[in-house]
Amino acid sequence: MERQAFIARENLFRRKISVKKLIICAALLTSVHAWGEPASSLTVGAGFANPLGFYEATPAFSWKLPVGVKKQTAYRLETNAGEKQWDSGWVESDQSTFVPYGGDPFASRQQVGWRVNFRDENGKESGWSESAHFELGLLSSNDWKAQWIKPQGAGDPTVEGASWLRRTFSVGKQITGARIYVTARGLFELQLNGARVGGDHFANGWTSYHKRLDTLTYDVTPQLHDGNNTLEVMLGTGWYAGRLTWEKNKKALYGKDPELLLQLEITYADGSQDTVVSDGQWEGTFNGPVVSSSIYDGETYDARKAVTDWKPVIANPDLGPEQLAPKPFPPVREEETLAVQNITQPQTGHFVYDLGQNMVGWARIKVPVEKDQTITLHFAEMLKSDGTLYTDNYRSAKSTDTYTAAETGTVEWEPHFTFHGFRYVELSGLPQNSTPQKDWVTGVVLHSDLRPIGAFVSSSAKLNQLQSNITWGQRGNFVDVPTDCPQRDERLGWTGDAEVFCPTSMFKYDCLAFWKSWLGSIRDDQYPDGRIPDAVPGIIPSTSSPGWMEAATIIPWQVYVRTGDTSVLADNYSMMEKLVGWYRSQAVKGLTPKIKGYGDWLQPYAKKLTGDTPFPLLGTAFYAHDAQILADSARVLKRDEDARRYAEEAATVKQAFFEHYFDANGKLQNAPETQTAYVLAIAFDLIPPDLKANAAANLVRLIGDAGGHLRTGFLGTPYIVRVLDETGHSDLAYSLLFQETYPSWFYSIDQGATTLWERWNSYSRDKGFGDASMNSFNHYAYGAIGQWMYERVAGLAPDPAHPGYKHFFIRPLLGGQLDSAGATLETPYGTASSSWVKQNGKVVMTIVVPPNTTATIEFPDHRPSQTVAAGEYRFESNLN
Ligand code: BGC
Repeated sequence: MERQAFIARENLFRRKISVKKLIICAALLTSVHAWGEPASSLTVGAGFANPLGFYEATPAFSWKLPVGVKKQTAYRLETNAGEKQWDSGWVESDQSTFVPYGGDPFASRQQVGWRVNFRDENGKESGWSESAHFELGLLSSNDWKAQWIKPQGAGDPTVEGASWLRRTFSVGKQITGARIYVTARGLFELQLNGARVGGDHFANGWTSYHKRLDTLTYDVTPQLHDGNNTLEVMLGTGWYAGRLTWEKNKKALYGKDPELLLQLEITYADGSQDTVVSDGQWEGTFNGPVVSSSIYDGETYDARKAVTDWKPVIANPDLGPEQLAPKPFPPVREEETLAVQNITQPQTGHFVYDLGQNMVGWARIKVPVEKDQTITLHFAEMLKSDGTLYTDNYRSAKSTDTYTAAETGTVEWEPHFTFHGFRYVELSGLPQNSTPQKDWVTGVVLHSDLRPIGAFVSSSAKLNQLQSNITWGQRGNFVDVPTDCPQRDERLGWTGDAEVFCPTSMFKYDCLAFWKSWLGSIRDDQYPDGRIPDAVPGIIPSTSSPGWMEAATIIPWQVYVRTGDTSVLADNYSMMEKLVGWYRSQAVKGLTPKIKGYGDWLQPYAKKLTGDTPFPLLGTAFYAHDAQILADSARVLKRDEDARRYAEEAATVKQAFFEHYFDANGKLQNAPETQTAYVLAIAFDLIPPDLKANAAANLVRLIGDAGGHLRTGFLGTPYIVRVLDETGHSDLAYSLLFQETYPSWFYSIDQGATTLWERWNSYSRDKGFGDASMNSFNHYAYGAIGQWMYERVAGLAPDPAHPGYKHFFIRPLLGGQLDSAGATLETPYGTASSSWVKQNGKVVMTIVVPPNTTATIEFPDHRPSQTVAAGEYRFESNLN
């Protein structure tokens, strides 16, 4: 009976129009069971709740158990896709995340309902959950009947003009459902009957375009009406055809002309269907108000230019070699807005609006305008001492928007295919005698639409500011791809920056889907010999740099540890193997004498940008680390023979490293003593365990020589504090974190930082700005410290042996003048938290362990640790 009701309900679901309505409908129909509370938060694939345009034919399913349940002992999962149904039957298992689907693969467009039932630790049945739903996008190129289209002729080659495409069609019957499937070579903005479709920006995003184009799916049922309907699409050059990198005239790296591929599928009440596709029946033009819209340079908008000169398009039925598949992670959307805090007028007629926060996106203006006059918006992350904008660090990126008015009046405007990294907006060209108001400018924050999952708070305002800076760094640099910086003529998917920041990113936002997709681009762009490009999508030549190429190994591993999703290892396993193979090809007796790269990039006080740690040492260290990750991944994936072989390779390289670079007392030899060399040797287990204390003592000595400061660059900094902590120097770990003088995290904060900077002293109150050629004020790499703040200051750390927080550690480290600290994280199983506060000579710990997990608690008073099941706990320890 139960099951028939589910199927009947789901069939009702399929007849309905939109997924949203269906959810409500299914919820109403779900009967109230007498038994336990059902599972909730049902997600499919990499964490999607009721997605439309879903990307996987055989997805995994996840759910959360109600608070109060300790453990799942069995589950039963049902899916219903019309004629295709699947019932897992009761499975004795505690697995409630990434449970594989066992039925026939789902097909394009299919609407699937699913629900789950589970038994708890007492064998009590929960009853069925409410149904969750998903609808598949177009999974293969064969689903596409559309043709690639673009306007005839060409735009002005000196700018990055937009182009427009349109088609009017008629609808004469009652509609029950309508979907648009769409992608572009370039960026698109879609309108149906004059209203924007979806809230996505920079769609379809940036992938390795020659290999893969992501497609978007929109439900446009409510936007269609009886009679004539018009689809209009604006295309921008974007990453596809626009200017990229600092090199002059480097543009159109993937193709010259943006093109559109679109398919509208309409289902009528009588069961019949209609399709409107991009083809020769469309019209196009290059003539319209968006005169230029360039990612780096900004937008030139002339409201006097209507979209005119429509002509039949050029249509190409050849879909091309690219893989067309639904976008597997959320697009960029408007996430929040910032209000102006202050306005100044450092030069007559130039008004500087301060948003109080370095951010990424654009400014929405609502200003008085005069016919034929141009309002200019300049942007900057910092101000010079005279209050004018500091823009030298944008290098060749012009980052300037202009709006030319068609009429006198008030206009509300924002750009389309550009974004800026800024805190300050300068308006000029306003009508004479106008008095600028704060609400004339709004900061529109744009980034990939990821779900926030973590929070950190402590008794130190500066430490909280650091966390805030890290979070803003992530927001600003997760604009479809993980970038080094969001403002200058770069904004590329630099692999090294992403690699060091990945673990921290997983405490802030649910980035599983984001990382999985970008790893797909790395796979697409891996060189045949196994090397990984410096930046991905790969548009600049590779320097084969240790620490950068490790985006291919460290990111999959870290994402696996923090989510428990083994598919991220399976997907990337052969990429890792090829990378390790490349290192092997470079090795001479386990060492890598010829390897070069970016070194320990930006090490303070080093003689060169690449730092003082020799390249061959870094090469060998990362080779060993990669081989170890590969061995560990093989073990997880049950490739036992591989696991054995790669563990042996890792051990051999570690031994070679140790013998060459360390003496028997744990001191570096055959290389200059650098903090980073010690840090990596300890962090990557490159020296025998019993020598770690000696090596750490040498590291401590070097930090002492540096007056209690770090001397590490991009490669050593992410690990230095952790290594000190793990080798018994937690006081020094804390003192580095709380260090106020250069170079340190708090130093930048003392200079006014609201984001992480590329260099600790990108700006200082006494010396002013650093070298403008490398001076980003929004570079998340040093934000890698966020991981230690969550895992040790608050004390909420995953256990790689039981990934995804199935089992985790609560191990707060008291110190650093802190009276309290705490973190909360929405794990795959539910909310976990760890916080501590000093009270009357005691430490009070408050802990939340989510259902179906366990946690081992290590106490500040060093009493024996304790492993607990799901629940809320409070412990007191004496402070001494
Ligand atoms: C980027 C870095 C990147 C580096 C390579 C720079 O221009 O901004 O963050 O990792 O190049 O060394």
